[in-house]
Amino acid sequence: MKVFISGNIAQSGLNLLEENGISVTKWTESRQITAEELISACQDFDALISVGPNKIDATFLNACSHLKVIALHSVGFDNVDITEANKLNIPIGNTPGVLSGATADTAFLLMLVVSRKAFYLHKKIIKGAWQNYEPTPELGIELNGKTLGIFGMGKIGLEMAKKCIGAYQMPVIYHNRSQNLEAEKEIGARYVSFEDLLSQSDVISVHAALTNETKGKFNLENFKQMKSDAIFINTARGGIHNEADLIKALQEKIIWGAGLDVTNPEPMQANNPLLNMESVAVLPHIGSATEETRSAMANLVAKNIIAGLNGETLPHQI
Ligand code: DGY
Repeated sequence: MKVFISGNIAQSGLNLLEENGISVTKWTESRQITAEELISACQDFDALISVGPNKIDATFLNACSHLKVIALHSVGFDNVDITEANKLNIPIGNTPGVLSGATADTAFLLMLVVSRKAFYLHKKIIKGAWQNYEPTPELGIELNGKTLGIFGMGKIGLEMAKKCIGAYQMPVIYHNRSQNLEAEKEIGARYVSFEDLLSQSDVISVHAALTNETKGKFNLENFKQMKSDAIFINTARGGIHNEADLIKALQEKIIWGAGLDVTNPEPMQANNPLLNMESVAVLPHIGSATEETRSAMANLVAKNIIAGLNGETLPHQI
């Protein structure tokens, strides 16, 4: 059996595939494979490991309907036409659970860095602009006891909430498609309407999937409902916020700060005004990028592929 990988995964996953007699061919160029190249590459393979935002849409799926399984190296699957995959009977696997801690760490890191303007001040030192100790300029804000608003209370949102409670005793409110009773019981999170989430949170952290309902949800109109000293954090998908509106909201001091691990588009261009703002921090989509998590993701990807090629239900099938 042969699998094509549109990027690279941790060695532990590659070893697992090899031990199961599956041969692996990688896309080795540093640029993202194009949609046409992916279709053409997959013709000679039994399965695909999709790394990054490959378009697994109806065109791809129909052109590659011979694939026995597609394993995503991600928990998010907004790049996949699941309905079409189901129609064609191609099982799609993802990697939930194993990246929750690392992704929540990234959200927590951004919250802290933004609250103290750390990226901006670091850049000032690099530019040689640190002249002397001054007690008042460029002050940050403290997080102790501030209200955390989680948009999308799944596994990652819950992890973020636990970190914020543990570190800063932050009361947690959340908005979700439906109530998460487990989170309410475990950490005392309170379900609120989207409007209340906007108006009551000191920090809003986005942990929802990108869907038709969440696309562009954080726009100017909604930023205007937030507190003027609020921080907006997004480690989920850049498409959930409107980037032009976010820039405006920060420039006009409608909100206080923002931390992004995901942007729209990706990669973010180096001349984006967000990169020079005082209370903004941007990272290049590194939510799950730790040795431990990437290894766990690669193992899950391999297990999904092995099960799919053996005609079994995938351990994590969407
Ligand atoms: C995920 O797992 O969805 C990450 O954002 C990587 O795409």
